[in-house]
Amino acid sequence: MTHEDLFGAAPDGHWSAPGRVNLIGEHTDYNDGLVLPLALPHTARAAASRRPDRRLRLYSAGMPDGGTVDLDLDALAPGTVTGWAAYPAGVAWALREDGHQLGGLNVSYESDVPVGAGLSSSAALEVVTAVALDDLFGLGLAPTALARVAQRAERDFAGVPCGILDQMASACCTAGHVLRLDTRDLSMRQIPFSMALEGLRLLVIDTGVRHAHADGAYARRRAECEAGATALGVPALRDVPPEGLDDALARLPDATLRRRVRHVVTENDRVERVVALLDAGRARAIGPLLTAGHASLRDDFEVTCPELDLAVSASTAAGALGARMTGGGFGGSAIALVDADAAEATAGAVRNAFAAAGHHPPGIFEAIPAPGAGRLPV
Ligand code: GLA
Repeated sequence: MTHEDLFGAAPDGHWSAPGRVNLIGEHTDYNDGLVLPLALPHTARAAASRRPDRRLRLYSAGMPDGGTVDLDLDALAPGTVTGWAAYPAGVAWALREDGHQLGGLNVSYESDVPVGAGLSSSAALEVVTAVALDDLFGLGLAPTALARVAQRAERDFAGVPCGILDQMASACCTAGHVLRLDTRDLSMRQIPFSMALEGLRLLVIDTGVRHAHADGAYARRRAECEAGATALGVPALRDVPPEGLDDALARLPDATLRRRVRHVVTENDRVERVVALLDAGRARAIGPLLTAGHASLRDDFEVTCPELDLAVSASTAAGALGARMTGGGFGGSAIALVDADAAEATAGAVRNAFAAAGHHPPGIFEAIPAPGAGRLPV
């Protein structure tokens, strides 16, 4: 159904916002650390038309619980909207909380970002809504401000504890680049990541595993990181330099906290090392750092699952230069950096390994660094 069929009015514009994979820098964003995402070609798209009243009518055919949701713009409050509509409604709520003047709106959504795959389908919905509202109501907000609004929608309205990685990636990534983002102050640098030039491909392996208790486990990891920072007397684990790690570990009596801290400190260091290699034009050399990042997430941070571990071990056994889980973990997706001419063989090896282990067939596709959110040409 077109927007006009649904709402009896032609859209005032079309906007899009991508999902993301994170090349490296996992579970660092809520520790004020470094991340290195790229935008996927998969996007959430919104068509929107203003309404004369103060209703917010949202439509999505594709969401698992899709359909039309009719909301009163002035009655939006955390906990009042459930399902997919909580993400866009939360954006309108957060903007109103900040004192922005919004009017009624019809918005129809489409998305091809896989849902629940750790590829930021919810951030894409939030960010596309944020850019559309910013544009339609002339708010003049910068992409970083829109990302913060989107994060509050997810965290404070939809109630999902998250950092700023996904929303910043969707709002700020650019085609052909990875984004080096310092989550402490949101300073960023676009780093060319031209895999084709170097004969490389980046595969995304969606395990199909959706972990039901991921939010609770994620919140526990955050609490452990905060406890670690408090015990060490630093504002955030970001403030423990790699050369201070041994001393820091010696001061932590709890073995679990020691593992969590070691992951965050070594992961920030891995981001810097990957960035240095990319800056030196040595993308082929980053593989071992990706694989080491996975081992750290598996053994120290304990956020992987058998399917993610198998995606990584099967790809590296088949000759991938490096592989790791990406996103929050507990299911979702892995990435594998491969020689372009080995991509098919690697994907085949992963499929075979999944079949032999009795897992559902994984979804495998290529990630090509795509543009961030914006208005679409008519
Ligand atoms: C999820 C969260 C992000 C980030 C990652 C882990 O994707 O939404 O903020 O914490 O997990 O790096």
